[in-house]
Amino acid sequence: MTYPSKYFNIHTIMGPSIKTVDFLVIGGGVAGLRAAIELASKGSVLVLTKDTISESSTGYAQGGIAVALSDEDEVCIHFEDTIKAGDGLCREDAVRAMVEEGPGYILELISWGAEFDREGSRLSFTMEAAHTRRRILHSHGDSTGKEVERALIKKARTYPSISRYDFAFTLDLIIRDNKCVGATVLRGDSVINIYAKAVILATGGAGQLYSRTTNPMITTGDGIAIAYRAGAQIVDMEFIQFHPTTLYSRGAPQFLLSEAMRGEGAVLKNIHGKRFMPEYHEMAELASRDTVTRAIVSEMVRTNAKHVYLDLTHLDKDFVKKRFPQIYSTCLQYDIDITEDMVPVCPAAHYIMGGVRTNLHGETSIDGLFAAGEVACTGVHGANRLASNSLLEGLVFGARAGKKAACCLNKEGIEAAVPEQVNSNIKEDPSPPASFDAEKIRSSLRQLMWKKVGIIRCEKSLVPARNWINKREFIMNASFQSRRESELRNMLTVAHLITEAALLRKGSVGAHYRSDFKSRGEQWERHTAFEKAKAPEWID
Ligand code: FAD
Ligand code: SIN
Repeated sequence: MTYPSKYFNIHTIMGPSIKTVDFLVIGGGVAGLRAAIELASKGSVLVLTKDTISESSTGYAQGGIAVALSDEDEVCIHFEDTIKAGDGLCREDAVRAMVEEGPGYILELISWGAEFDREGSRLSFTMEAAHTRRRILHSHGDSTGKEVERALIKKARTYPSISRYDFAFTLDLIIRDNKCVGATVLRGDSVINIYAKAVILATGGAGQLYSRTTNPMITTGDGIAIAYRAGAQIVDMEFIQFHPTTLYSRGAPQFLLSEAMRGEGAVLKNIHGKRFMPEYHEMAELASRDTVTRAIVSEMVRTNAKHVYLDLTHLDKDFVKKRFPQIYSTCLQYDIDITEDMVPVCPAAHYIMGGVRTNLHGETSIDGLFAAGEVACTGVHGANRLASNSLLEGLVFGARAGKKAACCLNKEGIEAAVPEQVNSNIKEDPSPPASFDAEKIRSSLRQLMWKKVGIIRCEKSLVPARNWINKREFIMNASFQSRRESELRNMLTVAHLITEAALLRKGSVGAHYRSDFKSRGEQWERHTAFEKAKAPEWID
């Protein structure tokens, strides 16, 4: 259906209403909630979520949280595994901060009521790909994210200083004199300018840019696009992680089959029932995620199939049901009994390693703007994230960003400057964009990204993708008053950044694989960086 866009001309509506808080946290997943809790004793905190609080990647996390807490593990081994998975592009100081501080934040979370699975009284740790130790804590078998979220929400509720707006869609940041002083937010039919002494972006990832993804609907890359429009530096956008195993069955959702299943002994077989991973890598099914994903693609091409199989049928049935209760019951809804049937699986977009560049304290290149969690690029994940490191990153860097943002409390002038200026990012008199079919463009974009900017890229696929996206530039430059159209604008902006970064990196590193440049390429140890109105550049 083609319909006229709900074009947002700042002069044609009543001026936005105004609200001021000390700290504005955009996002209510692990990173946003942890930041909010850190800030709660310092001033008033408003947490925004664009849907319900439980619609976040955090809530869907299955496998667990990696942390060096078991007797057989050490912080330095977690460090080494993370660096190795990151394929040469991790920022070592960020990894060190995460693995060293991680155990403390997990024990704190447990003290707040988070329950992780135990064997007797001892915490139970599982294995995932590219880890050399069993170090993944999990909850209710395969519902770790829900438990983390439950504990954080419960803790946040104990602070009267924290309030929440659900279904509050952030349109743009308010920037004044190169400082971030708040955000423009769509709440119902109203636009509100929310002013704050510090703004923390914790909006999660961008999986919805791909037609196959494990991610929930909220992951449209809003935070990255919003920060880019505001002038923040965006880095490492070519690195998209594709999870090897999501359900591939007619009528079924692209439901994740946790890597922990392979950690517990599940194997991958091609459509002829032959196990193939040992031929691709010595660690077989437990090789790093990018290796397993590409091996699956090769096997699918070789056998002319749309999927491979994940096979757990050799494992003890009761163990499988108890260890993976959510996955067991979900697959059963689609007539697949994972204890008896091999499960058809195919890779899907899962995580974005790049994002808004931050330092170790969550500070971005814009004063007053902080970022944490999947929207941020701390450098912890390098070119390929080690499984189950992102919940940990969200906790550690959410808290770190919160600590640093608290220092903005004494910033002066926000309230005084409020009324006379509105969002400098919303163009004051742009000509309305032509009518366009937002839903059709969204769907075409998701397929384009999957086919041309997906697991395997090359110049021949990337250039047409660039041209297609550039033709929709008018949408990226417009402003809208509806969530769907604003999301499309953000998705196009993030797609543009991913595609340009993928073209810039003429080499294959980590999750970025160029079939026309299979070796690492020149300057492979550097990072791609983007800033509005500037040419893309390589940074160290
Ligand atoms: P999210 O948890 O995604 O939260 C984003 C928040 O931002 C939401 O509240 C959303 O409403 C809000 N938001 C977004 N845009 C706007 C906007 N414009 N305005 C207002 N609010 C907005 N990682 C692990 O470490 N271990 C795992 O086992 C694991 N399993 C996973 C399983 C699945 C199916 C998926 C999808 C991911 C998994 N991950 C896992 C990755 C991990 O869950 C995420 O990287 C992490 O939870 C991201 O947390 P976050 O706080 O950055 O963002
Ligand atoms: C999984 O359970 O396989 C997801 C883990 C992760 O993405 O970290």
